[in-house]
Amino acid sequence: MRIAAPIEIGPLDADAQQAVRALAAAAESHDGVAPLSEQPLLNLGTDAEWITHVVAHTKAGSTIGYVQVDRSGDTASAELVIHPEHRRNGHGRMLLKTAERDATLPSRSGEPGQHGKHLRVWAHGDLEPARAFARSAGLQPVRELRFLARSLDPARAPELPAAPVGYRLRAFRPGTDDAGWLRVNARAFATHPEQGRMTLDDLRARLSEPWFDPEGFFLLVPENEGAAGDPDGVGPAAFLWTKTEPGQPDGARDGEIYVLGVDPDHQGEGLGRLMTDVGLAYLARAGATRAVLYVEGDNTPALATYERAGFARAAVHVQYARP
Ligand SMILES: CC(C)(COP(=O)(O)OP(=O)(O)OC[C@H]1O[C@@H](n2cnc3c(N)ncnc32)[C@H](O)[C@@H]1OP(=O)(O)O)[C@@H](O)C(=O)NCCC(=O)NCCS
Repeated sequence: MRIAAPIEIGPLDADAQQAVRALAAAAESHDGVAPLSEQPLLNLGTDAEWITHVVAHTKAGSTIGYVQVDRSGDTASAELVIHPEHRRNGHGRMLLKTAERDATLPSRSGEPGQHGKHLRVWAHGDLEPARAFARSAGLQPVRELRFLARSLDPARAPELPAAPVGYRLRAFRPGTDDAGWLRVNARAFATHPEQGRMTLDDLRARLSEPWFDPEGFFLLVPENEGAAGDPDGVGPAAFLWTKTEPGQPDGARDGEIYVLGVDPDHQGEGLGRLMTDVGLAYLARAGATRAVLYVEGDNTPALATYERAGFARAAVHVQYARP
């Protein structure tokens, strides 16, 4: 007989957050893929109405499983991980059931916790155990996020491409550029389930991450922009935000094209291609030997731009849901 592990639901104190990070690290070294992505890791310390943390323990108290449910979007999204030494004991199924109940519980509309939503579960890397697990739970793939990569040669890094006539490239200025960037980001990613919903708090959380470097966050602005920058919050015509994680394992020098957006009023003018080239030149000049990025599997224009720029698929992340 299998006995369910004790679970705790609620905000995580500092020790519990550390235990979840250690669990994620153990799973990553076993599976070769990190089970929790950036936003859930940023949310570990968040105690909000729309986020639920569920931790499974052994009787002795060590953390063997974790699921986070985020109900802030149109659908609820979960990321789930079980410690490699405790798999095939039903813990994954139990945490999934708990997450589904948490997401789908009916609620009065407009309630801050935003229950009553369908649940989608991420499988990073879409590994065979996750596929088998999803199948056994009656879930099907509903969304695909591709991880693309291409090599870079820092020894032969090109100059940054010039801005088109009427524009110039400049670094993002935290504080001054927040409102304008959020506006254009929301417009450029209007149909994207997460990126287009970024709030000022989400932006500030990223600006205070150790990897944040304004020099790697480019805005394409009108050439005649005044010294005050963008006081009306109009936002750039296009932007390119790069991210280079410090302390990468095994001497890796990956540089990420973190977010690239073109305002819809300027789409079709070749700015996506230009900003990709800016990113590749900047990352190579900063010493990266590989450029990486994430793109939705159904974003045909972006996929075409990146394939033309030499990117190829390195991994795929899949969201599963009930049909
Ligand atoms: C996927 C994952 C959460 C499964 O956790 P788990 O605790 O091992 O899963 P369970 O024991 O509850 O398995 C439930 C059922 O899923 C299926 N399953 C799970 N892992 C499997 C595997 N490696 N091979 C084949 N079937 C598997 C089986 O049908 C299993 O039932 P059974 O053991 O009675 O045959 C775990 O492997 C994990 O943490 N992987 C990395 C993170 C990840 O991919 N998360 C996304 C999940 S969609």
